[in-house]
Amino acid sequence: MIDLVAVEDEAALAAAAAGLVRTQIQAKPGSLLVVPTGSTPLGMFRALVAEAQSGAIDFGRCRFAVLDEYRGIGGDDRRSLQGWLRRELLAPLDIGPDRVIAFDALADAGMEAAGVERAIAAAGGIDLAILGLGPNGHLGFNEPGSPFDSRTRAIVLTPESIRSNAAYWGSEDAVPRAGFTLGLGTLHAARRLVLLVSGERKRDILARTLDGPVGPHLPATLLRLHPRATVLADRAALG
Ligand code: GLP
Repeated sequence: MIDLVAVEDEAALAAAAAGLVRTQIQAKPGSLLVVPTGSTPLGMFRALVAEAQSGAIDFGRCRFAVLDEYRGIGGDDRRSLQGWLRRELLAPLDIGPDRVIAFDALADAGMEAAGVERAIAAAGGIDLAILGLGPNGHLGFNEPGSPFDSRTRAIVLTPESIRSNAAYWGSEDAVPRAGFTLGLGTLHAARRLVLLVSGERKRDILARTLDGPVGPHLPATLLRLHPRATVLADRAALG
């Protein structure tokens, strides 16, 4: 069952998403949070940094896990997704690497994925996973066809995801062809899921996520099988 929360615009989306994080941290200061990269969460990141600076949220005990990563690039590569997260959120919040579960993009794929699963389990599981909606319905890099019980693993990006990710890096050639992602089963085990959706270009895929058939052909429909899932969407995305 999805709890659908409609907000006016991107700014309201950022404020509402930051509010959910604040509530989570107040209830459990040592929470393990998952946050996505992409353009949608950037407003939420800015709001969280502002709330941390004003003392409204204390991130002193919480931990983060990175949702997905490209494979085969170094941590200093401008395309590194954990680098993106460090710049936009973790460094301003003063959260060091000891409190972040992240993929080593250069490591052996199987070992690395299993290590991330173990680290999440050792931290007590994911309390809140904030997710973005891929244009093809992917969650993290769980592309269409990913089984709902899939665990954290290495994946090959679909041509559609390579095209959409080209927007971040300037050209399709600059997009690595493979990545890592937390699995759909790993995300389903999170105590709470929140999907952030903004803008008209997500309208069709959001409608199908909310009302179309549930199944791995559209990974985001996983939320409809989760006991505590929220979709936070703005008017432009809801149509
Ligand atoms: C990317 C990432 C996802 C992200 C999604 C949406 O490919 N792998 O984690 O949530 O696409 O991105 P955006 O918010 O820019 O639309």
